[in-house]
Amino acid sequence: MTIENKIKQLRETIKQYNDAYFNEDSPLIDDASYDKLFHELKALEAEHPEFYDPTSPTETLTKTKRSGFSKVQHTLPMLSLDNAFSEADITSYINRLMPFFEASELALNVLIEPKFDGIAVSLSYQQGQLVLGATRGDGQIGEDITNNIKTIKNIPKTIDYNKELTVRGEVVMTKQDFDQLNQNLSALQKKTFANPRNAAAGSLRQINANVTATRPLCFMAYQVEGGPDLPDTQNERMLWLQTMGFKIADKRMICHSVESCLSFYESMLNDREALPYEIDGLVYKANDIIVHQAMGRTSRAPRWAIAHKFPANQTMARVIGIDFQVGRTGVVTPVAKLEPTPLGGVVIQNATLHNFSELARKDVREGDYVWLRRAGDVIPEIVSVVMERRTSDLKKPELPSYCPSCQKTLKVDTLNRFCDAIACPEQVLGRLEHFISKYAFNITGLGKTWLGILYEHKLMLRVSDLFRLNYDALIVLPRMGDKSVKNLLSEIEAAKHISFARFIYAMGIPEVGRVTATKIAEHYPDWHALARADEEALLVIDDVGPQVAKYIYEHTQAPSFKNEISDLMALGVVIVADGQKPTSTRLAGRRFVITGQLKTMSRETAKINLESLGAKVVGQVSAATTDILLGDKPGSKWTKAQALSIKPTNEDELNKWLSELND
Ligand code: IVH
Repeated sequence: MTIENKIKQLRETIKQYNDAYFNEDSPLIDDASYDKLFHELKALEAEHPEFYDPTSPTETLTKTKRSGFSKVQHTLPMLSLDNAFSEADITSYINRLMPFFEASELALNVLIEPKFDGIAVSLSYQQGQLVLGATRGDGQIGEDITNNIKTIKNIPKTIDYNKELTVRGEVVMTKQDFDQLNQNLSALQKKTFANPRNAAAGSLRQINANVTATRPLCFMAYQVEGGPDLPDTQNERMLWLQTMGFKIADKRMICHSVESCLSFYESMLNDREALPYEIDGLVYKANDIIVHQAMGRTSRAPRWAIAHKFPANQTMARVIGIDFQVGRTGVVTPVAKLEPTPLGGVVIQNATLHNFSELARKDVREGDYVWLRRAGDVIPEIVSVVMERRTSDLKKPELPSYCPSCQKTLKVDTLNRFCDAIACPEQVLGRLEHFISKYAFNITGLGKTWLGILYEHKLMLRVSDLFRLNYDALIVLPRMGDKSVKNLLSEIEAAKHISFARFIYAMGIPEVGRVTATKIAEHYPDWHALARADEEALLVIDDVGPQVAKYIYEHTQAPSFKNEISDLMALGVVIVADGQKPTSTRLAGRRFVITGQLKTMSRETAKINLESLGAKVVGQVSAATTDILLGDKPGSKWTKAQALSIKPTNEDELNKWLSELND
């Protein structure tokens, strides 16, 4: 293909993607792939100015289709932003800014704001009244969506400012509201949205403003233009907008060097998932408005600002199959098998669909393209199917009637299908794996592969078999030498002393995770006491609802479970009072007294935690006490400790030690 044709083809493709994104609120390509194409086109155009075309998507903003809204001319054009993707891009941008600050005899002064991932709108106020709300459109001419804008609760309809004022910002939907909206839409068998941005755009462009009114939208202001009395830095303008009743980004930062810009970027990247709404990067703006005037703009973007994009947390992936996997509790989980898809630094090949009702709701089929999302380190999730790319030959997956592992007929309830065969291989392996995992018996010398081998050799068919393993049985296995067998056996021996919380967790009762297990262990001294508790008694425990109480009760009463527990005890498992087995020696030799009310944990938990760090916890202050953990309203122990100059410490400190322990 000639360069000219390549350029033409890229322009056409990008226009088509722009149309789907901006006009249909239904993207056909993920952002990263789009950015790559856009970049490629820009580079080719720069190398070949002879093929310049003013209608290229790199020169113009997308034209919006006839929409039923009337057109409005923006008094000030609504621009886009240039993008930076790397530290090098930012360094060179800051170097470009520098001379403009110097020319105004100012120090470098950059305001960094989140880049909200929503839809840009412009609000016009006259004599303190909101008179117009408009979309960006092509940047010069937008759509008049005043009626829809007026349904957004956090947009002030009147303000205490009498001159003409233009406020710009982004209409966003929180991640939580987005999930809820998609659930409601799919329950009504309506088309869902790929992401909160499209949901906000689609909701805002409803011809019927009553529909918009039902959608949870929120306006985040980021720019204001008005009279000469407005403050002369971007940050002060933001604060001024706040006094006028607008919501602005609360995470902002003024930076005076490249280094501080980049370190703010790192910290925001870390905090990104915790924000209630999506941000797709940061915007760096010259803080002094005088610099804006000096720098001006290109046809599509201001020169005084740049967007530093975050790596994508969502992408498109192709489903190559739907698998059904049975876990340790017998519940069958549908899992989408994906064409290997890079996202967030890892290659993703599976995404859980959680349960059958979710599979039905999302209607994922083999061959579909789906939006795949990965939030931080959380397991990847399918947001929705890209319906525009579904072909008519794709069939709904056939749901299994038999266990994929042991072929027994599955039981069916509203949400799940499950296998109730105790000896089902996948379930057994799942239970074994859980039993030896880090927060259970923590046997590091055995992994999934070894468990599989031991299972195949019938050496581990139930959890208590861990403590039946012996030298003669292990040494004959392939790749097991004298040393490794001895190491493994001594690790198993040492693991026999276990805290009650770990023991409860290790037993793998459905829904009983580490937190619940700890709460149960705080309530009951040992297994016998727990096994005597009925469902009603269990409900008293924080964190235990009726369903969990039922699971616990069913398990403690089941003969096979009871046998397993007594076998474990007979094989030498000893439940030590929580904390007798320190996991760290950090506080070895220190004697703590706890006094006052703690905020984040009970005193019992604090005791266990301190002991797990190697400390001793005693009841009374004496000359031998080395530290005192102070809660709210400490009593006479604190007075006595002060008299003895005993070192005070607090819960925050304890939590810090604990988090370091987990690193
Ligand atoms: S300033 C004159 N600040 O990102 C241009 N834009 O990709 C003013 N955006 O069109 C833009 N958050 O819709 C600015 N804090 C922020 C922003 C922001 C999101 C949007 C805006 C812009 C688009 C460019």
